[in-house]
Parts: sequence; C-alpha cells; structure tokens
Amino acid sequence: MYKHLQERYAPRPPVNVATLERMKADGEKIAAITAYDASFATLVDDAGVDLVLVGDSLGMVIQGHDTTVPVTLNDVIYHCKAVVKGLYRPFLMADMPFMTYASKEQALDNAVRLMQEGGAKMVKLEGGAGQIEIVEFLANHDIAVCAHLGLKPQSVHKVGGFRVQGREDAAAEQMLRDAQALEGVGADLVLLECIPAKLGALIAKELHVPVIGIGAGPDTDGQILVLYDVLDITAGRKPKFSKNFMEGQPTPLEAVKAFAQAVKSREYPAPEHCF
Ligand code: KIV
Repeated sequence: MYKHLQERYAPRPPVNVATLERMKADGEKIAAITAYDASFATLVDDAGVDLVLVGDSLGMVIQGHDTTVPVTLNDVIYHCKAVVKGLYRPFLMADMPFMTYASKEQALDNAVRLMQEGGAKMVKLEGGAGQIEIVEFLANHDIAVCAHLGLKPQSVHKVGGFRVQGREDAAAEQMLRDAQALEGVGADLVLLECIPAKLGALIAKELHVPVIGIGAGPDTDGQILVLYDVLDITAGRKPKFSKNFMEGQPTPLEAVKAFAQAVKSREYPAPEHCF
C-alpha cells in the first residue's frame, strides 16, 4: 500500500467480512466494483466503494478476449498485486479463473497463491451444487469465499451464451437451494449475476451472509459493476444492467462516487436495469 494512503484514511477502518455482515444487518447497501491496477484502485477507494474485485472480467476489458475463459491464475495475481498497492479501505476479493478450482486440493493451492502472492482477502468462484465440497474445503482452511451464482461467465461455452438465469421456477428454486447450501458449508458472501430481480430479493432475504448483485435487482445487499462499464469505456454492447455513470460527471472519480452513492441511496439499479 502507498504510505500516503494509510495516513489519509486512518480514521476510516478497512472493510472486512464482519463489516460486510454488519452492513447487511443494518440495511446499508454495499457498493462494490472491479479494478485491475493501482491507479484505479486508489480512485475507487477515494470514491467510497466498500469492496473491490479483481475479476476475471479482465480477460475481456483488459486483454480483449470475448470471454473470461482464457484468463489464468497468474493474470489475476499480477493484477491483484497492483490493485492491493492502491487500496486502503475496501475489502479485496479476487476471482479464481476457469479450471483453477477443479479439485479441492487445486482450489486450496490456488486460493493460497491469490492471498499470499496477490494480497486478496477473499476468493470468488463460480458454482452451484457442484462446488459445495470445494467451498467447504476452503472455508475449513479459514479462507474467505464468495460463491458466484446465476450467470456464470466461465460456463459460457457449456450454456451457449450470456443469458439471464433462474427464470423458470425449477431453476430459481435450485439456485436458492444452492445458495443456502453454499452458505451452510461456509461461503461468506454470495454474488448473483443476471437473474430476475424477484429471485435476487428472495435469495438475499433467505441468506444470513451478504448477497451482492450484478443484474439481480435492487433488493440484494449490495451491487457490483465492472469499472469500465461504469466509466463507459467498455467496447461494444453494454449489458442491460450496467449504467454509464460518466454521464453528467466531470471526472472518472466523480463518476465512481456517483455509482457508490446511487447504490447507497438505492437509486441504482432502476427498473430499466433489472430483469
Ligand atoms: O469478473 C468479474 O468482473 C465479475 C463481475 C462481473 C462480478 O465476476
């Protein structure tokens, strides 16, 4: 971490898992965003976000791939190392890339690398019922874990595209059961991507751990967006749930502040961002 940041933010204690739980209990919305380098990490910290994800979305917005599948563990570690230098207050979560958690032992080795080499405080992996043993194994080794449900971009080739998940009753019920089971084995956070708002609200209500949404409606405990979508610099078509926060703002810092404030005040997401 840059020394000047530590001094500047001394009165604002860093966010940890207990902070996120307290925010859920108090009904304070969690503002989360992705970052991939030290400069933007400092900027999003200054803007007041609570949680930063070094997401495998870096494969698309940084590396220019069509999917997140080509991203490697070393890629995420590289970006984590940069991000951690710019952060003081937000909690740092890192993605476990495609096929880096195919077995319990592999998941543990790789989560340890993300934490020890990258500086991550929590790891995120995509999965439902199939990942229960892995989440349990990591949790039993005192690793903070976020389970990513709903649209799982690493499964794009299996699923046949980026589509809203959990629209049918059976799929929605299964997602709720998966979320409860993952919480039951020790997941500390659940992230829901691209699901009907009603299902996002139900899962957030039923779980004790905080639930962060991206395209999961206004009633999850927090919201996360890809930084480059917030700044409107992502190339190509934007997802329905994203919003250009640069509109009306003079600088990227003001845009990220506007995002964090809109999450806190529940102005974002609006009905047009929901399924
Ligand atoms: O990789 C990423 O940036 C993510 C977000 C879309 C939540 O997983």
